[in-house]
Amino acid sequence: MIGRLNHVAIAVKDLDAATAIYRDTLGAKVTEPLPQPDHGVTVVFVELPNSKVELMAPLGENSTIQGFVDKNPSGGIHHVCYEVDDIIAARDKMKASGARVLGSGEPKIGAHGKPVIFLHPKDFLGTLVELEQV
Ligand code: CO
Repeated sequence: MIGRLNHVAIAVKDLDAATAIYRDTLGAKVTEPLPQPDHGVTVVFVELPNSKVELMAPLGENSTIQGFVDKNPSGGIHHVCYEVDDIIAARDKMKASGARVLGSGEPKIGAHGKPVIFLHPKDFLGTLVELEQV
């Protein structure tokens, strides 16, 4: 069911320092920081030939990644995102398999303007999984 790896998201405390590591040390192409107040994050996209890495830092008081960053002060992989053709069909298949869909279970518009759901890390090898309809 899942298709391409859309992105790997890394949560960091200091977005400028994280960007410098990818841009200067690793020599990757990176975008300007993009604040996403709806998601409580500021994001820099690292554009790789075959996929993306998203560097995310908390934005605002109630960022959903603040707790993660507090627990992982040097940064850490926050989630992986796989592409699906049909988010509702994917959601229903996950539920039927007994996997937990986070939140209301209704797809939300994600950081790329496309519908996404998140799956419970305990059901997926300790990794938060995002499914994005493309
Ligand atoms: Co994501």
